[in-house]
This record gives sequence, structure tokens and C-alpha cells, in this order.
Amino acid sequence: MNVTDAIRGRRSVGRVRQDAIARERIARLVEAATWAPNHKVTEPWRFVVITGAARDALGAAHADAVVRANPGLTPEARDAALALTSRAPVIIACVCRSESEDPVMRREDRDAVCAGLQNLLLAAHADGLGAIWRTGAFIDEDEVRAHLGCGPAEEIIGFVYVGVPEGPPPPTPPRAAAAAVTEWRGWD
Ligand SMILES: Cc1cc2nc3c(=O)[nH]c(=O)nc-3n(C[C@H](O)[C@H](O)[C@H](O)COP(=O)(O)O)c2cc1C
Repeated sequence: MNVTDAIRGRRSVGRVRQDAIARERIARLVEAATWAPNHKVTEPWRFVVITGAARDALGAAHADAVVRANPGLTPEARDAALALTSRAPVIIACVCRSESEDPVMRREDRDAVCAGLQNLLLAAHADGLGAIWRTGAFIDEDEVRAHLGCGPAEEIIGFVYVGVPEGPPPPTPPRAAAAAVTEWRGWD
């Protein structure tokens, strides 16, 4: 698939089948992420690739955080929080590690991980897989951070859920024409 087609054709795919995905296919997605540009080549990323019962353990960490924030939560609501990690057979937690004291470098490290995530999404699309970058309160919860072994210099940038797409492709959200957000200077 050529790059322009991959960029235009990629969609966030939330509905996927539970079929297992071969580990080598997922490893290729993570490798694509590691080729992102990163200033001073700090390679500020770390990935935790989660499948099977390990998804339930992640879901339980999230559910514990939800219960802590809402002590009166019903068991059904806790189960719903726990079930969030069952939405795809594979979840890739993408973590930024930036030890720098310099806020500019920390920002650039984070930017690099975001670029890596886009690489990962494009690689998934080019391989016929559905993927979606998910964040929400999940990424900041102490229980989830501890579960993933995040240290103080680490930030969870997103969870990429991956699987074989199910059902019709998601609609393409409208985008303003690039011309509407571009100013051309020094051109005829
Ligand atoms: C930083 C970031 C966080 C996102 N978090 C979520 C999320 O928590 N849940 C979700 O359904 N989609 C999430 N998305 C996906 C966007 O909703 C999606 O990219 C947007 O709707 C445009 O659709 P498209 O990716 O198909 O072009 C996130 C995307 C980005 C870049």
C-alpha cells in the first residue's frame, strides 16, 4: 500500500473480532513505531503488548481506579469498566519515558511517541488490521500506571486496540480542505 493511500484510508476501527493475531504481525507494528523521528534520537518509547487473560488484569486495574473514584459504584458498573479491555484481542500500551530536566526535551519526547503511534496505526491499516488509539482517564490512573510499571518519568500516551475489523468500515469523519488551514508564503 502506498503511503498516501495508507494515510487517507486509515480509520479508527473500534469494532474488531476476537480472533487471535499472530505475535509476529504485532511485533511488526511495534517496530514501525520505533522508526518515528525523535529529536536527539532519545528513543523515548516503551510498549507493553497485552493479550488473553493479561487484558483482564489490565481491566481490573482500571476497574479498581474507577471504584476508588466512585466508592458507591454498582457491581454492574464495575464489570462494565473491567470489560473495556475485552474490546480487542490485542492492546498495545504505548509509554513515553523522558528523564530530561528540560521541558522542551520532555515535550519533544512525547511528540516522538505520538509520531510512533501514528506509524503503528498506519502499519496496522496496511496489514489489514483494525486499530484505534484510546486514551481517556484510563491513561492517568495510578492503578493502571502501577500495573504497567510506570515510573515517575513515564507517561502513558495511549492504548492501541488491534484486531481484525468486524462489520462495515467506520465512516470517514469530515476533514476541512487543507487549503482552509494553510497559508502559503513566498509562492507565486
Ligand atoms: C490522542 C488521541 C486520543 C484518542 N482517544 C480516543 C478514545 O479514548 N476513544 C476513542 O474512541 N477514540 C479515540 N481517538 C481516536 C479519534 O477519536 C479518531 O482519530 C477521530 O475520531 C478521527 O477518526 P479517524 O481516526 O478514523 O480519522 C483518539 C485519537 C487521538 C489522536
